[in-house]
Amino acid sequence: MNKHVAIAIDGPSGAGKSSLARRAAAHFGLIYVDTGAIYRCVGLAAHRMDVNTRDAEAVQRILPTLDIRMDYNDAGEQRMFLSDEDVSSDIRLPEISICASNVSAHPAVRAFLLEMQRKMARENSVIMDGRDIGTVVLPDADLKIYLTASAGARAHRRMLELQNKGINASFEDVLKDIELRDYQDTHRAEAPLRRAEDAVLLDTTEIGFDESFELLCRTIEERLGLKA
Ligand code: DC
Repeated sequence: MNKHVAIAIDGPSGAGKSSLARRAAAHFGLIYVDTGAIYRCVGLAAHRMDVNTRDAEAVQRILPTLDIRMDYNDAGEQRMFLSDEDVSSDIRLPEISICASNVSAHPAVRAFLLEMQRKMARENSVIMDGRDIGTVVLPDADLKIYLTASAGARAHRRMLELQNKGINASFEDVLKDIELRDYQDTHRAEAPLRRAEDAVLLDTTEIGFDESFELLCRTIEERLGLKA
């Protein structure tokens, strides 16, 4: 049995963080926590309530009314609940991505979600992915990884992913969406996306999924001495 560990993985949208972190978590027997999904719940709730997601005060007003819960099904998949409704699929809709990015810029939203994330890491051995995990949420994480790839490579992967789900999206639209989110996520005043000084940089622009997975596992094994 491995000791209690916290691994932080940050990086821009579409770098493959969630698929790689999910598989690495299963490989090492850790819990995978997708923190973007929590921001997406706030974005979805605001969208459904017709709240302007760029309006910090309007978003802040709805926060006390939100009941966001995270759970894991028998297959070990993270499910997200909004007032007991399973919204795990709805939060993935493309129009919710930008709502999530918008609400994530508001300090009140980040403060509201901080303890939920830290509690998960206190109570479980985790691989947690997001934008500010190594810098803000878990500054004392045992291992920090900054996973990235060029915007073009990320847009290409995201387009294939959407097409596989039957959602038709052009490369140009996906690239535009990724570039807009990159800009917003790295330029916001509160907890912007940036590489923590002590984070290991993994760039997957030139390598496929399997090779990226091997690289991630090797990094975890070497740095933490974890075994599968
Ligand atoms: O990882 P994702 O694309 O599902 O995240 C959705 C949005 O949430 C993303 O645009 C940035 C924001 N986010 C954040 O600000 N901090 C995190 N730890 C995770 C996500």
